[in-house]
Amino acid sequence: MKFNRRTFVKSAALAGGAAGLLNSGGCAHLTHSAWTYKDATMMGFRAPPVPDLRIGIIGLGNRGSGALRRLPRIERVTITALSDLFEERVARQADSLKARGKVSSERYYGTPQRWRALCESDNVDLVYIATPWLLHTPMAVYAMQCGKHVAVEVPAAMTLEQCWQLVETSETAERHCMMLENCCYGENEMMMLNMCRQGVLGQLVHGEAAYIHDLCKMKLSKDKYVDRWRLRWSVEHTGNPYPTHGLGPICQYMNINRGDKMEYLSSISSDEFGLTRTARELFGEKSPEVRTGFKLGDMNTSIVKTFRGRTIMIQHDTTSPRPYNRLNMISGTNGIVADYPLRAALSPDTHKWMDEKELESLKTKYRHPLWDASGDAARRAGGHGGMDFLMDLRLCHCLQNGLPLDMDVYDAALWSSIVELSEKSVKRRGNSVTIPDFTRGGWKTAEPIGV
Ligand SMILES: NC(=O)c1ccc[n+]([C@@H]2O[C@H](COP(=O)([O-])OP(=O)(O)OC[C@H]3O[C@@H](n4cnc5c(N)ncnc54)[C@H](O)[C@@H]3O)[C@@H](O)[C@H]2O)c1
Repeated sequence: MKFNRRTFVKSAALAGGAAGLLNSGGCAHLTHSAWTYKDATMMGFRAPPVPDLRIGIIGLGNRGSGALRRLPRIERVTITALSDLFEERVARQADSLKARGKVSSERYYGTPQRWRALCESDNVDLVYIATPWLLHTPMAVYAMQCGKHVAVEVPAAMTLEQCWQLVETSETAERHCMMLENCCYGENEMMMLNMCRQGVLGQLVHGEAAYIHDLCKMKLSKDKYVDRWRLRWSVEHTGNPYPTHGLGPICQYMNINRGDKMEYLSSISSDEFGLTRTARELFGEKSPEVRTGFKLGDMNTSIVKTFRGRTIMIQHDTTSPRPYNRLNMISGTNGIVADYPLRAALSPDTHKWMDEKELESLKTKYRHPLWDASGDAARRAGGHGGMDFLMDLRLCHCLQNGLPLDMDVYDAALWSSIVELSEKSVKRRGNSVTIPDFTRGGWKTAEPIGV
């Protein structure tokens, strides 16, 4: 069914006003401003409210089973369908729902295409996708074609072609497609967003983002990821296959796609060392792993220039023995905030980091309202310290009330496009590549996100 967006604006605004009725963890006070539409854009798109939200989850491994623990905690949310390749994974999650007094009536498993039936089901409003990378876009596209909203794990797409497929399908089907970038809801990230919104850092100049996480043994494990999907990418590709955790928050601080846009990128990778070394230790010199080798350089560094003259550095390293780090650094004409650990220096005292006491009062002063309202519930629900729950809560709240989502299909496409763009640039010795404007000019007039 085609939906007339313009006529819907009024009813959606009413629904937004009634948001206070929803007791879904205290995010009801966060509303989006009135918004007018240009045809064929999903920017600021409001779908009809779905007060009783029915969710089908595809992919019940590590991430999907975590979502299944969190989502049923949200008021008026029901998990109605489950899908995985393996019957036992579906059965285990269905049992865990039952143990909590919830029921999932539909189960799809057994063949690689069985998830399609979940997308076709009349009992699903939102398809939540937590499968290996290469399945994200085909599943999201089909779900939207079936009239469902989509929430898809990171990265939403692995090629530029897939990025465009997401955008074009979302626009044609008029269905939301949100990438599940949970790091945008981290406590420090949201505090920094709040500071940027309030102009504390002055004009923003430079951001640094990363995914530095030693997954070397997990990638080489024969049973951690089905069919070693994560390792296979390292065999076949270079560049940055997982750019969005650090990048998403920086783009929100800088209003990328909403007042600024990425122009071009240069990317350079180190050689590959860690996987081969560890494979040699684990499996021996003559093992297929060592003989096949890996294309993915251990450390990849990309630099983006934006239309408004800012720069963003993005790093990826999942093989070196280093503590976890997303960098999460933003600097402007008035100072800097950086993470891992959290530090700040603000004008006029910018030659040293603030002491602990000053930092604590900064954190209190700029604590994000969403964390104020729902932080305790989020910590109890868990998922990376609570940010996963806040992401789910906002997603469900916006769908239940017919509000625009915090992250739209253009964000999903842009942040994911770094996967192929970084690889292209690495292969050209770091020469720059142009970054597509998935909004087709919409970034010039789009409003900042609603949180
Ligand atoms: N946002 C985060 O913090 C975060 C953290 C970890 C992983 N992830 C992302 O989540 C996704 C899943 O990661 P994971 O660690 O849960 O992987 P996983 O291998 O543990 O789980 C993937 C699941 O998908 C299922 N699957 C595979 N093919 C399928 C098919 N054709 N139909 C139905 N089910 C199928 C597998 O059986 C498995 O249960 C990845 O995209 C990953 O990048 C995100």
